[in-house]
Amino acid sequence: MVNKKTKNQKILITAALPYINNVPHLGHIAGSHLPADIFARYCRSKGYETLFVGGTDESGSPSEIAAEEIGISLDVFSKKLYEIHAEIYKWFNISYDNFSRTSKSIHHKTTQEFFKAIYDNKYIKEGVMNVFYSPTEKRFLSDRYVRGQCPKCGFEGASGDQCEKCTSVHDPTELKNPKSSITGNAVEIRSAKHLFLRLDQLEPKLKKWIAKQKSWRTQVRSIAQGWIKEGLHERSITRDLKNGVSVPLKGYEDKVLYVWFDAPIGYVSSTKELLPNGWKSFWKGKDVQIFHFLGKDNIPFHTIFWPATIMASGGIVNLPNHVAGYQYLNYEGGKFSKSKKRGIFCEKLPETGIDSDIIRAYITFVLPETSDSEFKWEDFKNRINADLIGNFGNFINRTLKFVNGKLGGEVIKPNENEFTKNDKELMKKVNTGVQKITDYLEAAEIKKAFSEAFALSAQGNKYFDDCKPWVLVREDEEKTKKILYNCVNLCRTLAIIFSPFVPNAAKNVWKQIGLKGNVDDPKNWDTAKDYEIPKKHKIGNPEALFKRLDDDYLDNFKEITANAPDLKQLFK
Ligand code: 2FM
Ligand code: ZN
Repeated sequence: MVNKKTKNQKILITAALPYINNVPHLGHIAGSHLPADIFARYCRSKGYETLFVGGTDESGSPSEIAAEEIGISLDVFSKKLYEIHAEIYKWFNISYDNFSRTSKSIHHKTTQEFFKAIYDNKYIKEGVMNVFYSPTEKRFLSDRYVRGQCPKCGFEGASGDQCEKCTSVHDPTELKNPKSSITGNAVEIRSAKHLFLRLDQLEPKLKKWIAKQKSWRTQVRSIAQGWIKEGLHERSITRDLKNGVSVPLKGYEDKVLYVWFDAPIGYVSSTKELLPNGWKSFWKGKDVQIFHFLGKDNIPFHTIFWPATIMASGGIVNLPNHVAGYQYLNYEGGKFSKSKKRGIFCEKLPETGIDSDIIRAYITFVLPETSDSEFKWEDFKNRINADLIGNFGNFINRTLKFVNGKLGGEVIKPNENEFTKNDKELMKKVNTGVQKITDYLEAAEIKKAFSEAFALSAQGNKYFDDCKPWVLVREDEEKTKKILYNCVNLCRTLAIIFSPFVPNAAKNVWKQIGLKGNVDDPKNWDTAKDYEIPKKHKIGNPEALFKRLDDDYLDNFKEITANAPDLKQLFK
């Protein structure tokens, strides 16, 4: 995907901007923030000029209604929720270069600039739309506060504009038996003046562009093509709400722009906020590649509406190069549910004392890249204990402990002619392994890359077992130091290639080996396969990288993380 690189290659990475009407659970982390972060860390290590931006999606009614239910002002609510979100991503080591807010004026201004360009290009027209009105609440209700039966698949809990089950998008009038999800009372449809984006006119251009996107995953392509096949219709981009970006057009003073019109523009404004003068170099031109990471329900918005917005604006920014759409991460055969206490709710994670690498590693094992996947407790325990600790952690620890305990902490680089057949085979495996991992990561195939990384540390364990240094050391210490050189060097290789996935552990390995600089220094990736440990090298102090997960610990962990406070409690 990042195939042809230019001399000044720039990579822009975004993770879907989360709504702040709630606190994220592990499914949200798996669907965008974590894979985007792994990819961003890889790109930096590879030496690409990388920028990773995100922020909170604060427009529209979700936060407005949540604040109202608690009885506090929207500003107080949003500020607190923004802080909680930012804290959580920090705990997970999500390395955002900027994590902004769509409530900021820079975002409102940027959105209005897009709107004006599109309006001037005549891709916006006036029309009449049917909207939900709740007579009991005396207000218009946005689509997501209305539930009814999906006109396509019959799912009962479909929202006013989209069905979560079949991802199809519909018009309010098409939803059967609509009810307010706040009060449960029936809602009516009212007709009002609104603005529409001419998707119908943009269709031929979009169709051509989508057909060229060979690198998109099958699921992403088929959702986009499904839309095109059905035929694109003009789509409303204004709403009768207070919270959001105001419409810079006379006669629309009481309305705001639709949250899905401004949300993806949030990626641009987050970049602008960080780089007021340099933002364009990440969004325009041939040296740029843009990667969006997002969950399944966001796919139509990033493959159809957002590209359409860009095209209609006359190309204020480049079209995305890759739309990495993720499926859902479920929880033990069902959905995450805060009220049913089913799941792992992120604000409680720091309280458990767990290393965020452990959660990152497990989510990566089960990343819903090509189909929905599951968080399962038994699997969590087994994968962490067997693979992360038993394979990767074990190789690092047995190597460094042996060097420290039996070789006075020293290894010696073999001369060229001293590398044994075994050593050369390992060298070959390191070369092909690192290349495979690199190829997968270039294509943002994160799960496969992770699995190859474990295959490589398994090779390290095999080499250690085959060489039997615990026997050899009794006969020939110098030779053993040369064998262990290969192992320590592989520890360095593994530190670099595991670093996008488990950054805490990678740093720790780097320190334990006693290396200068940082494991995640830019361009370190391309040295991963090299033999860079000095000729005579003294390692640092070895210590276990992780603590094994046992049932008692997990019972306690489960109890803490399932019991997330409801929003009201956060404001007490
Ligand atoms: O699904 C969501 O949580 C949306 N707030 C995602 C927005 S993604 C982007 F376009 F900003
Ligand atoms: Zn449906």
